[in-house]
Amino acid sequence: MSAAHAQGLESVVAASTATSMVDGEAGRLVIAGYELEDLAPNAAFEETVFLLWNGRLPNATELGEYRVRLAKQRELNQATIRLLEDAAHNSVSVTDLLVMAAPTLRIGRSENPAEDALAAVAAFPTIVGSYWHLKNGNKPAEPRQDISHAAYFLYQVFGKVPSVEQAKALETYLNTVCDHGLNASTFTSRVIMSTRSDVISAVTGAMGALKGPLHGGAPGPALDMVFEIGSAGRAESVISAKLSRGERLMGFGHRVYRVRDPRADVLAAAAERLYVNDADRRLYLLAKDVERTALRLLEQHKPGRRLQTNVEFYTALLLHGLGLPVELFTPTFAIGRVLGWTAHCLEQLRQDHLIRPQSEYVGPMGLKFQPVSER
Ligand code: COA
Repeated sequence: MSAAHAQGLESVVAASTATSMVDGEAGRLVIAGYELEDLAPNAAFEETVFLLWNGRLPNATELGEYRVRLAKQRELNQATIRLLEDAAHNSVSVTDLLVMAAPTLRIGRSENPAEDALAAVAAFPTIVGSYWHLKNGNKPAEPRQDISHAAYFLYQVFGKVPSVEQAKALETYLNTVCDHGLNASTFTSRVIMSTRSDVISAVTGAMGALKGPLHGGAPGPALDMVFEIGSAGRAESVISAKLSRGERLMGFGHRVYRVRDPRADVLAAAAERLYVNDADRRLYLLAKDVERTALRLLEQHKPGRRLQTNVEFYTALLLHGLGLPVELFTPTFAIGRVLGWTAHCLEQLRQDHLIRPQSEYVGPMGLKFQPVSER
């Protein structure tokens, strides 16, 4: 495939970015200059927000200001709340709801890229948490400003402030997934922004791209597979049967990484810290067994394809360990990734260059129009 015609733009470099560097051959992810393994477990999410929007870590005063500015934007406007209530009435999925609710963040606000970015990052946890309660027939938790972004999301979902360890585990997750090169949803956001549209529209488009199962939908099925296997002794037979039927193993394979996804290790370590009691540990150890068997069988069934564990596998385990239901896995990913989308939007806006690739026409030529009565 020539660079001039790359199906899926696989070998094409379509943007310059200072937000993240993905090295698929080395299994390396650098976020705005910091190795993922260094940043994700150590930074507060608000520090990562500042880093991606400003290209450097904040000092203590700047961090304090960002915490306050983000916390102040948590409350939803009436139009968003009404939409949430209607959607709950119609049992819309939480991921779909995010696609629908994102554009309502524009209502009552004048367009301002930096403020729009702030509003989107700040409001996503409230949208997801409030909607989850409404969908289950409960009253949403009142927004509050006195806890961190990560703790606030768990508070929104569970109605109580999480432990320090739980908030830290989620924070590590949000930092880990906040940005990842020119993935499909981020590319979507940049394309929209490149037309000089607005950040909220770009976030909405990106959310639509994230909804697809090949992008944001894998952690649920990855966990299902671990539960379906149930005990280490069954891993071989269940996975072999799936691969023989031509099924894809969720949580394995990646368009860019041909070695282990570095995010998998960061999340595996965070999950291990979280899974302290015996029942939880059994699930963690089972997942480790399933991973080992899956990798061995993938190499047998798909020799040379270099299929490795991806971020979704340990995402599933970590989010499950936090008590989050599967339906909230993709929305939780969006709560982290919306940061990357907005950072790319602000960067694209500065670069101000319309993204407009070409297509190769493969349809018929030379047809002559016939009136409908003659067809
Ligand atoms: N399980 C089994 N086989 C897989 C596989 C998986 N998870 N991922 C890829 N393969 C196979 C393909 O069927 C293909 O086989 P073939 O050469 O015999 O046709 C081969 O490996 C190459 O796959 P390809 O379709 O080129 O990979 P891709 O780069 O287009 O796809 C994914 C990347 C992520 C879409 C793909 O690996 C996948 O579907 N994984 C499962 C879903 C998932 O975990 N998504 C989250 C990604 S972060």
